[in-house]
Amino acid sequence: MIKKIVNISKIYTWDPIKDELDIILDQEILIKNNKISKIGASILDEVDEIIDAENCIVTPGFIDSHTHPIFIGNRADEFIMRLNGSTYDDIKKNGGGIASSIKNVRESSFKELELASIENISPFIKYGTTTIEAKSGYGLTLKDEIKSLEVIKKINKDLDVDIIPTFLGAHAIPNEFSTSEYVDLICDEMIPEIAYKKLAVFCDVFCEEGYFSVNDSRKILSTAKSFGLIPRIHADEFKYFGASKLASEIGAISADHLMAITDEGVQALSTSNVIATLLPGTTFFLNSDSFANGRKLIDGNCDVAIATDFNPGTCTIRSLPNIMLLSMQKCGLTLDEAFLGVTYNAAKSIMKSNKIGLVNENYNADIVLWNLDDLCEIPYWHDSSSSKISKVFKNGLLVFNQ
Ligand code: NIG
Ligand code: FE
Repeated sequence: MIKKIVNISKIYTWDPIKDELDIILDQEILIKNNKISKIGASILDEVDEIIDAENCIVTPGFIDSHTHPIFIGNRADEFIMRLNGSTYDDIKKNGGGIASSIKNVRESSFKELELASIENISPFIKYGTTTIEAKSGYGLTLKDEIKSLEVIKKINKDLDVDIIPTFLGAHAIPNEFSTSEYVDLICDEMIPEIAYKKLAVFCDVFCEEGYFSVNDSRKILSTAKSFGLIPRIHADEFKYFGASKLASEIGAISADHLMAITDEGVQALSTSNVIATLLPGTTFFLNSDSFANGRKLIDGNCDVAIATDFNPGTCTIRSLPNIMLLSMQKCGLTLDEAFLGVTYNAAKSIMKSNKIGLVNENYNADIVLWNLDDLCEIPYWHDSSSSKISKVFKNGLLVFNQ
């Protein structure tokens, strides 16, 4: 199947060679099967279908490089508790928080978890997100972590959005174990089995006071590496804990959150290939004002991605345009940097930057047509993802049209 998109006003894509935003005027896009095969002023190839973009602007499909969508039920009660003065930590100490999602996942059948996860994930596509990274981490037994990762595998085949799986057994310490027993279970049983079954590409750890120490995290991530899983870290979210330093030491692909990172942490990330990932939706949703200092990270030479952190406890935002807005207002990113953070740098963070994140020849035809005049309107219209998207193509197929 050969398609041509015509009447595009501007294509916005990152130029990785010049390291700047590229704005391509009045060009057409030729799609052959699932790939962009040509970009040119007047494409004369014979085609099966012509798509009239009606003067829309075009971007790559957005990439959400940090989500926790494999859960069932919700935690709206905690949202109200926070408004009444409880902190995330208070809620955890009273048996809520991550533990309450764990209870729900453990009590659900595969089918129930699958249906809930489909409901959680399928709206992403209509917000212009064509690929997400998705973590397990609400099971925390071998059986329930495998169940969560098998759900990802199954729904990745059924849904239009591509889902890249991450094992996050080290999300919390379940009540029935001591920390060292649980770290051993992760290293001796979970990682080997998950790697053997090829259920995850990445292994993540919540490296934070009250969760996993730097030493525990190092042990888990080095074991993961030895089994071929690539490390990523929830780092320096509430307290500077040395997690960003560990990310650099262990060669993690990304260090995420970074609200509490210090100069030492910035220095460690800037001298490594770790992608610093900001999740300002979480800070906003937790009603906190300690946003990550993205400006400092970028000025310190770090590659920065931005993501939603979509999960039932700390952020229910699925819209990356809303995350772009927050990153620009609260983390000091420019429009171009926010765009880079949801496209090319997000693709780097999930190790797919040779296939997605750019509108380029030979890249997957993951393309969004926006009924807008300028890129800045994507974060400007707060509901741009629901009102301004005209079409979404995933691997060359029209998957959303309004
Ligand atoms: O990224 N920080 C750890 N994990 C999630 C929160 C998970 C939850 O509260 O359910 C996060 O914010
Ligand atoms: Fe997270």
